[in-house]
Amino acid sequence: MWIAVAEVRDAGVVGVVVYLAQAIGVELNQETRPFIAALGVRQEFRRRGIGTLLKTAAMLDMADRGIDGPTVSLVNRRNFPMLTLNQSRFEANVEPDPDDPSDLVVTAAIEPVD
Ligand SMILES: CC(C)(COP(=O)(O)OP(=O)(O)OC[C@H]1O[C@@H](n2cnc3c(N)ncnc32)[C@H](O)[C@@H]1OP(=O)(O)O)[C@@H](O)C(=O)NCCC(=O)NCCS
Repeated sequence: MWIAVAEVRDAGVVGVVVYLAQAIGVELNQETRPFIAALGVRQEFRRRGIGTLLKTAAMLDMADRGIDGPTVSLVNRRNFPMLTLNQSRFEANVEPDPDDPSDLVVTAAIEPVD
């Protein structure tokens, strides 16, 4: 498991992301996928791109470590900010979570640019 933080001068840590290689779906031969376990930005620093930056950094770091493929996260159905971030910044795919009706399984990918 890895943790990355975003820091702003004179304000300290303003955001954090926790990520890991996670076995997804026992029935799918425990396929290991990039997984975002937690992402948060301090309230007064939101809507400045920090959440997007942290998620992108986590995805790039996992790709660097050979953990590639679409990145999975579980997001509460009512979490409009996070669902909108995933849609607007990553064009994420969203499906119901078979294990928890209150969650959605979000799958996001980043495309390499030239
Ligand atoms: C979700 C969260 C991490 C977003 O962090 P952030 O730094 O504000 O996100 P960004 O600035 O990168 O937002 C990128 C885009 O996401 C969407 N978005 C983010 N917050 C939004 C909100 N409150 N309402 C609507 N859209 C939102 C917008 O499209 C935004 O782009 P814009 O500001 O140009 O309109 C932050 O709101 C947070 O910490 N929430 C509490 C913890 C949480 O729910 N974590 C996720 C658990 S799965």
